Amino acid sequence: MQPRHFTSLLDLSSSELRQLIHRAIELKAHRDPDYQPLKGKVLAMVFEKSSTRTRISFEAGMAQFGGSAIFLSPRDTQLGRGEPLEDSAKVISSMVDCIMLRTNEHDTVTTFAEYSRVPVINGLTDLLHPCQLLADMQTYFEHRGDIAGKTVAWIGDGNNMCHSYINAARQFDFKLNIASPADYGPLPSIADAAADRVAFFDTPALAAQQADLVVTDVWASMGQESEQKKREYAFRTFQVNQDVMQAAHPDALFMHCLPAHRGEEVTAEVIDGPQSVIFDEAENRLHAQKALLEFLIRP
Ligand code: CP
Ligand code: NVA
Repeated sequence: MQPRHFTSLLDLSSSELRQLIHRAIELKAHRDPDYQPLKGKVLAMVFEKSSTRTRISFEAGMAQFGGSAIFLSPRDTQLGRGEPLEDSAKVISSMVDCIMLRTNEHDTVTTFAEYSRVPVINGLTDLLHPCQLLADMQTYFEHRGDIAGKTVAWIGDGNNMCHSYINAARQFDFKLNIASPADYGPLPSIADAAADRVAFFDTPALAAQQADLVVTDVWASMGQESEQKKREYAFRTFQVNQDVMQAAHPDALFMHCLPAHRGEEVTAEVIDGPQSVIFDEAENRLHAQKALLEFLIRP
């Protein structure tokens, strides 16, 4: 039987995603140390880029479920020396029960999925960050109930997080208002597929009007460090500040996948303020991914 993968939110159906969110909420509420559905199971984690939340949440999640995780850096595996992805996927998947990858190229994850005999999870690529969206959706559901029919404002870069919000708008049935500087919008191929859910605005305040959730991310993602100065200039009017939050619904939430740069994409007043749920969002990486691992490894 072909394994199920999670390279994108579109790999699961809307009802499977909703089921995962509800399971994540349940796992968080009733932590049972005797419940070890992944006893003896092993997750391989390939990281081409840095991580705090993703690594810790997957490793802790596997341990809490009775399994274990192996951290693999391309620097000290043959992947970094050019061993073909196809061979690596076949070899690694012959020894473990699931593979999580954080890579630059999205194709690396999809190639692994094609050649792996076990489930493959996207732990962030330049294109998408679907695991973060599971945590974000869980956080919204916990604080405000179902997100269907609500309005989300994405302020800033049309990056991997923005692309995943576009996919989430399709799968969870919400409206997504996007405000990005010219030349920094999301890929048309991803946005066009969600044309009935996505609208574009020239300023953050316009995008945030009546929003139930305001979200942003760093101006320069991992791998774009050399563009930092150029991006600071291009994004200078795309900060989430009190004026933007005031344009939103009075009980709007604020989210950021972290790590954040206070004073750049978001003011300290907003990210550390009463509407911000960033630390619930970060913690929910653990619960949402435990639900995902349970779904993929023990269907
Ligand atoms: N949000 C997120 O993916 O964080 P890390 O880069 O720390 O894993
Ligand atoms: N867009 C950011 C997200 C980090 C979790 C990046 O890719 O660096």
